[in-house]
Amino acid sequence: MNIINDTLINWYEHCRRDLPWRHNPSPYQVWLSEVILQQTRVSQGMDYYLRFIERWPTVEALAQATEEDVLKMWQGLGYYSRARNLHHCAQQVVEQYGGKFPADYEQLKKLKGIGDYTAAAIASIAFNLPHAVVDGNVYRVIARLYDIDTPININEGQNLFAQLADELLDRNRPSLHNQAMMEFGALQCTPKNPACLHCPLQAHCLAFERQTVGQRPVKLQKTKVKTRYFNYLVMRVGESIYLHKRSDNDIWKNLYDFPCIESETPLTVEAVINSEGFRQLVEGTDFTITKTSPVFTHKLTHRTIIAQFIEIKLEQKLLQIETKEVFLAAERELENYPIPRLIDLYLNT
Ligand code: ADE
Ligand code: SF4
Repeated sequence: MNIINDTLINWYEHCRRDLPWRHNPSPYQVWLSEVILQQTRVSQGMDYYLRFIERWPTVEALAQATEEDVLKMWQGLGYYSRARNLHHCAQQVVEQYGGKFPADYEQLKKLKGIGDYTAAAIASIAFNLPHAVVDGNVYRVIARLYDIDTPININEGQNLFAQLADELLDRNRPSLHNQAMMEFGALQCTPKNPACLHCPLQAHCLAFERQTVGQRPVKLQKTKVKTRYFNYLVMRVGESIYLHKRSDNDIWKNLYDFPCIESETPLTVEAVINSEGFRQLVEGTDFTITKTSPVFTHKLTHRTIIAQFIEIKLEQKLLQIETKEVFLAAERELENYPIPRLIDLYLNT
């Protein structure tokens, strides 16, 4: 018995949202929802979750999907290695465990893409095993309840918060407890303007008492993100358009975009056209520039992409294509290809 736990669970039972993955979920549904929710908020994640479950109701069904279909379904969530891991993990569960997720934290962690967080979430929510989850919500709730100023994004902080979360865990009700912690962080103890004045834990909250709520949790400033400049060539011949399948060890692996001249500084359209890369590509082909886009700024976790799109009408097909990753596709079939969010944004403006 612990007053904080009892209060939390009591709060959860009255205030929780009615979410599709909370209706007696299978381990597959818990896993899928948690992986999606690492990428997006609940409101957006719900649509993705329902579409995945409708198309692939079981882990066997997902394992049999093509990677391209999984990437397509994931489109817009970003961080596509998560989608590839999802697919791979489904295959591992089918091959190694006959389609049943193992009810064991350590075995779960050996599966593709399943780290501490996801393993603890599946173990506790699906199997009611005593593992505390520590996600962004939990960091915030704990940092405030105990008024902790150790940064959450350094090793020391991660160890400390993992330990505190474990001490706080209600070992008789790990499934309820973990969901209550996350839901409390999502609805009550929110990043901005938490509802402290109507909070059932107010009397137990050190940060509230010391008026440090707004400064908790502490996060260390990270090093500056690197900027890359993508000068996209949107080249059309008749009804067709040149696409590029991304394959290197780079962002957006296996997604499709357009052939691109990358630069380390911003380039004018003229500078792109005069670049060595562009000349080689269109050598011997007559072309007209039909349109140039405004500049798009696209923020990823460790990168900022500054992109412009130069639309080009070609009179003939390109003669020299250096890589088989560049190919001609029917423009009306564009929607069948998984594309990065940036490309989607451009196509919709
Ligand atoms: N965010 C991620 N997982 C969650 C869950 N199970 N409940 C509420 N918010 C969440
Ligand atoms: Fe969070 Fe405020 Fe409640 Fe403390 S009093 S737990 S900061 S909502």
